[in-house]
Amino acid sequence: MTVSSDDELEGLRRIGRIVADALEAMGRAIEPGMTTRELDRIGRDCLERAGARPAPEMVYAFPGATCISVNEEIAHGIPGERRIAPGDLVNIDVSAEKDGYFSDTGASFAVPPVTRAVERLCRDGRRAMWTGLRQVGAGKPLSGIGQAVGAFAKKNGYTLVRNLASHGVGASLHEEPTEIATWPDASERRIMADGLVFTVEPFLSLGATFAENGEDPWTLYSQPRALTVQYEHTVVATRNGPLVLTMPSQ
Ligand code: CO
Ligand code: CO
Repeated sequence: MTVSSDDELEGLRRIGRIVADALEAMGRAIEPGMTTRELDRIGRDCLERAGARPAPEMVYAFPGATCISVNEEIAHGIPGERRIAPGDLVNIDVSAEKDGYFSDTGASFAVPPVTRAVERLCRDGRRAMWTGLRQVGAGKPLSGIGQAVGAFAKKNGYTLVRNLASHGVGASLHEEPTEIATWPDASERRIMADGLVFTVEPFLSLGATFAENGEDPWTLYSQPRALTVQYEHTVVATRNGPLVLTMPSQ
């Protein structure tokens, strides 16, 4: 959506804080031995306490309140009986709705003991996201995001997953502009309108360039198999640059 009033911005800020707080609570709660279903329950409780509805369930009838993807899974993992083990890389993606406003955030968490390579991948995944976010502003080209993230990945020796794009959000979970590339895309000509709301969510990897389906209709796997992280914020393009909505309340 494109923000056109203070009321709209306030609604977006509220749901942005709620999903950020849920993601933070889940990240803090990760412990070896717990199932991803138990972790999902913590997220669901946070959202419900705040009066928000889990968007994947509401919009797509996804079997869970949040998406939890472990190691070779990189997105849309179904919370279930899988037990988190020491050394796992756990991606949590939280999206929700309140009062008609939607927000979307995500992060990858490394469960100790963490190798140097995974520690570096997580740090750089976050840096890749911020590299993209710094390109956001009213009147700027959407292609700037993919150009900047692509240059960052190349310089630091990573690959980017090229079939999981960022997207408009706000009045629904996925809306126009769709298919915002976080990799260089020569065909991208769109300009960010003042107040445009969308996500920036690069998937940075130690080798994967593609996400592929597995046995179930949801879970996506890295192709070729390689550790991959995703960090995601919901942002508004303003005349003063990026306004990130998915910040935790403290
Ligand atoms: Co997300
Ligand atoms: Co998203």
